[in-house]
Amino acid sequence: MKEQLLSLVLPILIILDWSQGKVFRVSKMECRSLDPSFTYFKTCKVVHRENGRAALYVNEVFLYKDPINDIVLNLGIFRIVKNRRFQFLNETLDYCLFSRQYLASGFFGFLMTPMMRISNVNATCPLQQNITFNGFPVDENTIKEIPIPNGVYMFHLRSSMMKKWRTDVRVYATRVNKYSE
Ligand SMILES: *[C@@H]1O[C@H](CO)[C@@H](O)[C@H](O)[C@H]1NC(C)=O
Ligand SMILES: *[C@@H]1O[C@H](CO)[C@@H](O)[C@H](O)[C@H]1NC(C)=O
Ligand SMILES: *[C@@H]1O[C@H](CO)[C@@H](O)[C@H](O)[C@H]1NC(C)=O
Repeated sequence: MKEQLLSLVLPILIILDWSQGKVFRVSKMECRSLDPSFTYFKTCKVVHRENGRAALYVNEVFLYKDPINDIVLNLGIFRIVKNRRFQFLNETLDYCLFSRQYLASGFFGFLMTPMMRISNVNATCPLQQNITFNGFPVDENTIKEIPIPNGVYMFHLRSSMMKKWRTDVRVYATRVNKYSE
């Protein structure tokens, strides 16, 4: 079902995005632990750089001490129009089942490939470490491939670990043709 939707939607989006060089201007990021006894966010911030570029800083600490071998990620992309949210994508990924190959494709690939390059995370399961993004850059060289039209978006990434939803991260960003001069 999910696969069908994606294969239907992707070509349309790619055509819409035919004109190259679009970028994301990140306005805000919110990280919430749904279970602070399992994991919490020590850092969650957007540092705005010149001309609308940004860097994301995240430090997620795990209090759960055993290896985490059950991780499900859900990515929702919402388009925001006049304070209303329209869900654009709802993609779920069994991180431990698919791991690297799957991360390289689909919407998760667009997001995860650049993120994996910059974080300390090895994209391996089980997870046995804190997660750190020390200034993940959002600029012309990152996540430009996401084939969505201009507009205001919310990226909603939830993670379930050991069968329960544990975190909820929201990134608000505007898709524009280029960063302001
Ligand atoms: C998104 O997908 C998940 C898992 O398939 C489902 O539980 C959830 O209800 C869906 N969310 C929306 C808003 O459709
Ligand atoms: C990532 O994987 C490499 C090679 O498998 C390993 O040497 C390194 O210690 C791992 N890093 C972390 C943070 O687990
Ligand atoms: C994760 O961070 C916490 C708090 O900074 C630290 O006590 C813990 O040792 C770290 N865990 C790992 C596996 O590095």
